[in-house]
Parts: sequence; structure tokens; C-alpha cells
Amino acid sequence: MEIKISNISKLNWSGDALAIGFFADKVELTGDLKLLDQKLDGTISELIAETEFKGKSGTTSIERIGGKNALRKIILVGLGKEEDLTLDSFRQAGGSIARVAKQAKLKTLSIALNHDGYDNEILAQVISEGVILALHQDNRFKSDTENQKITLETIELLDLPASPQAIEKAEKIASGVILARELVNAPANALNPVTMAEMAENLASEYGLELTILEQEDCEKLGMGAFLGVAKASDLPPKFIHLVYKPQNTPKRKLAIVGKGLTFDSGGLNLKVSGSGIETMKMDMGGAAATFGAAKAIAQLKPDVEIHFISAVTENMISGKAMHPGDILIASNDKTIEVNNTDAEGRLTLADALVYTDKLGVDAMVDLATLTGACIVALGNDIAGLWTSDDDLATQLKASAQTAGEKFWQMPLETKYFEQMKSSIADMKNTGSRAGGSITAALFLQQFVKDTPWAHLDIAGPVWAEKPTAIDNEGGTGFAVRTLVNWALS
Ligand code: BES
Ligand code: MG
Ligand code: ZN
Repeated sequence: MEIKISNISKLNWSGDALAIGFFADKVELTGDLKLLDQKLDGTISELIAETEFKGKSGTTSIERIGGKNALRKIILVGLGKEEDLTLDSFRQAGGSIARVAKQAKLKTLSIALNHDGYDNEILAQVISEGVILALHQDNRFKSDTENQKITLETIELLDLPASPQAIEKAEKIASGVILARELVNAPANALNPVTMAEMAENLASEYGLELTILEQEDCEKLGMGAFLGVAKASDLPPKFIHLVYKPQNTPKRKLAIVGKGLTFDSGGLNLKVSGSGIETMKMDMGGAAATFGAAKAIAQLKPDVEIHFISAVTENMISGKAMHPGDILIASNDKTIEVNNTDAEGRLTLADALVYTDKLGVDAMVDLATLTGACIVALGNDIAGLWTSDDDLATQLKASAQTAGEKFWQMPLETKYFEQMKSSIADMKNTGSRAGGSITAALFLQQFVKDTPWAHLDIAGPVWAEKPTAIDNEGGTGFAVRTLVNWALS
């Protein structure tokens, strides 16, 4: 499938379908569209009337055009209310159109969406992102994919004079989102610490990234007792993965991205009970997935920024070797942790990853983690939590998220709540009370950051979709990759 910019007008384009957009309550045929409707003997007005198409965001209609017209079908897509229009409306519209085209088994499609308020380059990019992401399907674990073949061969963007680079940029970003989705979707018997490390090796050799993998002994030497405590019950060796993208020119700045990498979270001896979602805990490496997805995109986009991609990868299992509830672990900054709940394992692995990253001397670091169910309780499935005491970093991340069409909500680093984690026997416990659970998790992580401006993103909700949307399928969403890429490019 190829997306390209075309200078053919929608009046003259011929092919399987032309898609046009409308604002809610402003479904009018004026200018070009009026001429087109006349040319098509009123098919567009008919379609609008028959399907009571109102331009509501995410809605679509498709109709066959009669006669011998060289244009065979017309697709209407709703952009929502004009005053609510954002850049992401175009990404979503691109996705909705692509889904209709896929359903209708079209081969050639053209999309005429533009708006004076937006730069054509960025519009072409986000529409293409929406199209590619909507058409992605993860068939790796299916034996019969015959009826799932995508028939689309070419997609032309009309009325949108932009450069081919805009589309290439979308393809690169989407390839990172897709990698993240596929890592999240891969079950724990396919993606484990060892295969994750192999994936990182492939990424490094294919895209020219530097790679260091710290094996268990290396982690022991560095005193990563918190990470290794979690890894103890697994039959597979832990892998501490560190990829680096270095630009050709002197870097404008240096950044680090740290992802929680639990390829499975059983809860450990505080075993997850039924109804706790244990069967979806293959997604507990969603932070690492976003980290490596961003690495894949960034390595292709080549910004003048040095970026470190880090994950302490293991699985949280049960066995006679498992850490016990009540065990005291010593992290690599010498802080001691009383593990009052083995299911709060992500923060233990991140503790050592943050200590390690803090020493790299980067200008800022962001961690991403499917850290707490409490964050889902607080913000629901579509919004991730953001914690930072650095206002600049907060501003940068919010702006990056905005253009990415990904939702974050800044949450408080309420120092007083740390009291809940005071331990009588160690420096801290690893969990506080149920109330404010995502905040105490963030406060715990903060204990392992000394020098570097830092932000924590709890992506437990949006990393996984129960139902498909315009651009996401059911399952892994690749959430945060686009935000991270924008951050790196800003
Ligand atoms: N991986 C989970 C958090 C999670 C829950 C992610 C649901 C995605 C969906 C994390 O390791 C965990 O188990 N957290 C506990 C913390 C608690 C023991 C303080 C939780 O949220 O229940
Ligand atoms: Mg857990
Ligand atoms: Zn977890």
C-alpha cells in the first residue's frame, strides 16, 4: 500500500472511492463539492439525505455512484463540530476512512481533507498516520489470514500540497507505534526477557543504534537488588536493555526514556486473583514497548538529539525462589525497600533503572509504566497520568502529547503521602494504602532520581484497548510512542 500526494482535483480524480469530510451541523455542498455533486448526478446529496449523515465525529457513509462514472464510490466522514476541531481530528478521520475502505475492499482511494487553519505538511502527516494505524492488523498468531487481506493499493491525498517527506515521516512514526503494539500483543510465551533482548539486538543492527545488555551478573555488580528481587522467581534470565541513538552532528540535547518491562506480571506471591486482569498481564511491558517503538521511529527520523532507551526486563513470577512478601531489597542507590506487596513490582524494577539512567548525565528523563490499577481508577482507560516537579518538562510533554493526539493529565507529587510508605525496618515500603495509589507509586519512583529533571507517565489505561477505535485495534495501542517522538523532535 502506498500513500501519495496528488495534484488531481477531486472533480477529476478517478478510482474506487473518494473520501470527503464534513463538520457536524455544517453538512453543506458548496464550491467544489457542489460541482462534484452535479457531476455525480446528485449522489452526494442523496447519500447525505438517505443516511441522515450529520458530520458527527467518527461517523462515515459510503455509496456506489451510478452510471459509467470513473469514480465508483463516495465516502463521507464526520469531523465533528468545527469549534472542536484539533489536529487529531484529521488523524481520526484518516483512520475512519481507511476502515471503510478496507471493509469495502477498495483498491484505490483518494482522501480530500484540508483546512486553512493547519499546515499542509502536518495535515498530510497525521492523515497518513491515521490511515496506516487503522490498516495495521496483527496476524502473527493466526493460522488463516486469507479473509483479512488488505486490498488497498494506493491512497492519494487530494487538495493537500505537501511534500513526500510528510508521508515518510508518518510511515516512520507509525512503524514505531506498530512495533509497540506488537510487543504488547505478543503473549508472555512468545515475548519474554530473552526474546525482548533479541528484539533489541535486531533493532540496534537494523537502525544503527548502540546496544548494551546488562546480564544478571552485571546487574548484581551494580547492586540492582530491587530489579533482581523481582526477577528471582523467573526461570528466564533478566535483561537490562540500554539502546542509544546518537546523531551525526553534536547533539542539541540528551534525553532518556525508561520503560517498565514486565513481560508478565502474575503478582508474585501476592498472586493476582481472578478478576484482577491477570490474563492480560502480558501488557505489563507497555512502557518498554513504547520506549523501543519510539527508538525505532527516532532512529529513522534522525533528530539532532542523543536519546537513551532503557528497560529492566523480567517477569514477575512465583516459585520457591520468589521474593517473599516482607523481604527487604537493597536498590543500586543503597536505599532499602521492605516489599510489603510483591505485586507492586514495576516500581522495584524501575527503581534500579532510574538510578542507572540518572547517572548518564542526560538533560531530562521520562519513565513510562503500566504501573498502577489506581491510575486507571483515577483517569479511566483513555488518559495517562503525568507526574513531574519540572514545569519545563511538563510543558514539553503536554505539547508533544497534544500534537500526538494522546491524552495525559498532570497529577500531584503530594510529598505528604510518602508517609504511607514509611517502614519501621527499612528506608521505605514499596506500597502505601489504596487511596491515591498512583501518587504513592510516583513518589516511590522519585526516591531513585537525584539529579536529572524527570517525569513519570503511568500508562496502565491507554496502553490497551478493549474495543477498536478509528485508529486503534483491540489490544495493544502503541500509546505514548507518538508523544515520545514529538518530544525527541521538539
Ligand atoms: N502491572 C500492574 C498495574 C496494572 C494494573 C497495569 C492493571 C495494567 C492494568 C502493577 O504491577 C500492579 O500490580 N500494581 C498494583 C499495585 C498495588 C499492589 C499497590 C495494583 O495496581 O493493584
Ligand atoms: Mg504488579
Ligand atoms: Zn506490573
